[in-house]
Amino acid sequence: MTVRITLVRGDITRQHADALVNAANSSLLGGGGVDGAIHRRGGPEILEACRALRASHYGKGLPAGQAVATTAGRLDAQWVIHTVGPVFSKSEDRSELLASCHRESLRVADELGARTVAFPAISTGVYRWPLEDAARIAVETVRHTPTSVEEVRFVLYDERAYEVFAAEVG
Ligand code: AR6
Repeated sequence: MTVRITLVRGDITRQHADALVNAANSSLLGGGGVDGAIHRRGGPEILEACRALRASHYGKGLPAGQAVATTAGRLDAQWVIHTVGPVFSKSEDRSELLASCHRESLRVADELGARTVAFPAISTGVYRWPLEDAARIAVETVRHTPTSVEEVRFVLYDERAYEVFAAEVG
């Protein structure tokens, strides 16, 4: 079965899904944007789990393009899947890392048995990735990754991001 791609405009921390994807940074210890919102609304349990992951597996931090799951704390989900997008660069093509964030998040979702997964527009905020290009990479990667996830929901914070993703999904 192929994955169903849906789009909503809004705040990812208000979504109900089996797993919510966090646009984290390598430290896994929080930040602004989606990351800040997830930790704020999800509560301290998520940060505790992130600290434990740093201590056990990721002493140097989670590399860009990889993904790892924790509890979702008080969020309306079972898990948060933290992934680290690449910072956009004009001089270096980092598209493969952005694709990898989506593939790896789906792989982790499959391991967990998640059927519905909500993604933000990874790397398009603080990490400055141009929205059209990020939307193309995100949607193409989800479409072409074999997975048991039934629904991938892109949660777009503003109208323009929603329109760009909608054009890409078609
Ligand atoms: N729900 C959905 N989308 C959101 C939300 C929200 N609550 N808040 C922002 N967005 P960003 P990045 C949109 O910056 O570019 C953090 O400090 C936003 O408009 O959250 O991957 C981390 O700790 C944008 O389109 O993630 C890292 O240091 C998109 O989500 C760094 O930012 C992603 O914006 C990661 O940067």
